[in-house]
Amino acid sequence: ERSLAGLEADRSVPASHRVQNRQAEDAAEAGTTGFDNQPDTDPALAANRTWGREILGRSVSSTLGLDTIAIAKVETDAELDDVFAAATAAAERWAARPAAERAAVLHRAGDELAARRGQLIEIMAHEAGKTIAEADPEISEAIDFAHYYAERALDLEAVSGAEFVPSKVTVVTPPWNFPVAIPAGGVLAGLASGSGVIIKPAKLTQRCGAVMVEALWAAGVPRDLLALVDLASRDLGTRLVASPAVDRVILTGAYETAQLFRSFRSDLPLLAETSGKNAIIVTPSADLDLAAADVAKSAFGHAGQKCSAASLVILVGSVAESKRFERQLVDAVRSMRVGLPDDPATQMGPIIEPASGKLLTALTKLEKGERWLVEPRKLDAEGKQWTPGVKTGVREGSYFHLTEFFGPVLGVMHAKDLDEAIRLQNAVDYGLTAGLHSLDSDEVSTWLDRVEAGNLYVNRGITGAIVQRQPFGGWKRSAVGAGAKAGGPNYLFGLGEWVSAELPA
Ligand code: SER
Repeated sequence: ERSLAGLEADRSVPASHRVQNRQAEDAAEAGTTGFDNQPDTDPALAANRTWGREILGRSVSSTLGLDTIAIAKVETDAELDDVFAAATAAAERWAARPAAERAAVLHRAGDELAARRGQLIEIMAHEAGKTIAEADPEISEAIDFAHYYAERALDLEAVSGAEFVPSKVTVVTPPWNFPVAIPAGGVLAGLASGSGVIIKPAKLTQRCGAVMVEALWAAGVPRDLLALVDLASRDLGTRLVASPAVDRVILTGAYETAQLFRSFRSDLPLLAETSGKNAIIVTPSADLDLAAADVAKSAFGHAGQKCSAASLVILVGSVAESKRFERQLVDAVRSMRVGLPDDPATQMGPIIEPASGKLLTALTKLEKGERWLVEPRKLDAEGKQWTPGVKTGVREGSYFHLTEFFGPVLGVMHAKDLDEAIRLQNAVDYGLTAGLHSLDSDEVSTWLDRVEAGNLYVNRGITGAIVQRQPFGGWKRSAVGAGAKAGGPNYLFGLGEWVSAELPA
């Protein structure tokens, strides 16, 4: 049913994507329902590199203005209430359509997002400073959400003995750090569950959100069902969350923001994926070359501005004593290409706003016992471009150990054994991602039993969860409210109410 044929002529799609996904074709032929993740653009192909350079060239003077996109600037309470009313009415019509029909719209949404791969990368580079290497997989993730939630929507009807009653109005408040995939995930989940959706993109990355929504409208999602808003005041922001017209809020952001939302309305049904302070443990049995590369990538991808990023690496026993790993890490970090996203070779781009507050402290100050392995340098007057920083000697219970900074600075801690390392890893208030580099199966099982985090990665970097394969979500202060994992089989189940079909009417 789905066809990518329309993408053939579109320059927004790299050459390697202009063929049908062979796995999907094979699965269809075999009559299976296998889910195939969208492939990223392969930079090994010369044509794709040419395509990438063209896109990034355009990103400098980015062509795409908000004036071309229908974002509704809401100025008054009455206007916001009108948006709620329209979404409520549209949601009734949407939920009344057969699930298969709604799923077909979402599959088309995946295709429309795929058709905008280049456009979305261009805006992400311009608006968020994302490198193409980081932006491209983010588009794949957004497309995956569309096709995956389309399929999961059908599961809601397949539960026997209970009926799923969708929300009417789901509000999605995404962050700026994954300005396409996270808003897309929330919106597509809401729509798949049968709800109307109101999305307020992050101010700093409004156009990324707007082009994503425009793709969904082009796929046939009604405009009143999916409203794209910008709010003129903070009070309207409170109303967007606290209004009784809102059935559910999907938030990705800081733990404090989730607390604030709860203070607006204590009974708010909230699905919030919040902060992280994530560590990777490296034991003496590890492949140290692999570990150094994975730590560097997890710490400095998108300049460390991921809730999933590695903020700490905990070296165990002889790995800490011999200093060999620290030297490898220094080499890996020093050889990262720092620059602007218009150069496809850039590995670490700028941060989204000039460093201030906690992040500036982490980038410029040392606490007792710490010293720089790689001292970060500020490259511009504004304070947005930094070289990556690595400090060692981070002590248990210190500010650096326990605080989320969301930027390009990594701390090294030392532990005498795996027990102590796990204790240090678990000592933080959050529990989003966690990593272990070890080739010893006893160590791996000990760690898996005891680590307190939602997404656990062994001998792999700790960012870049893949839809369906690595459902994403945390423990402790990394999640607030109903905690089903995004991109996993249960996510939609928490987006509505269940009523027993056996109860008398
Ligand atoms: N899902 C992202 C990751 O895994 C974070 O939001 O890196």
